[in-house]
Amino acid sequence: MYNYCLLKFENIVNNYGSLVPIEQNEDIPFNLKRIYYIFNVEDGITRGHHAHRKLQQVLICISGSVKIRLKTPKSEESIELNDPSIGLFIGTMVWGEMYDFSKGAVLLVLASGEYDESDYIRNYDFYIEESKNRY
Ligand code: TYD
Repeated sequence: MYNYCLLKFENIVNNYGSLVPIEQNEDIPFNLKRIYYIFNVEDGITRGHHAHRKLQQVLICISGSVKIRLKTPKSEESIELNDPSIGLFIGTMVWGEMYDFSKGAVLLVLASGEYDESDYIRNYDFYIEESKNRY
C-alpha cells in the first residue's frame, strides 16, 4: 500500500451543470492551508520531479487532462487525471512528475501546508536514500 490514492468527490449535477464541493477533513484527509493551480503548460513539458517530507496534497484536473507519474523505491505507476470530480491524494515521501498536459489543462492542487522549499526533495537519489526505511 503506497502513500497515494484516488478520491472520488460528490458531483452535484442538475439542469444547470455540475458542482463539486470539497471540505477539509471531510472530502480530503487534511486541513487545507493553500491552493495553487498550474496551467499554460506547453507540449512536452514535465513538471514536479520532487517529493515532500511533510506536505500532503490533492491534485484535481479541473479542465483537460494530465498524467501523473508516481514513484516510490518499490513502485512506479502512472495515473491520468481527466475528471474534475476525481482527486489524486499524494501523501508524504512520494516522488511525483506531471506530464502530458492537454491543451488548456488546468491542474488544481490543494495543499496541507504553506509553501516551504525545505520540505521539498528535488534530487531523486536523495529521495531514494531518505525514503529507504519508509517502504
Ligand atoms: P515548483 O514546485 O518547482 O513547480 P512544479 O513542481 O509544478 O514543477 O514551483 C515553481 C515555482 O513556483 C518555484 O519557484 C517555487 C514557486 N512556488 C511558490 O512560490 N509557491 C507555491 O505554493 C508553489 C507550489 C511554488
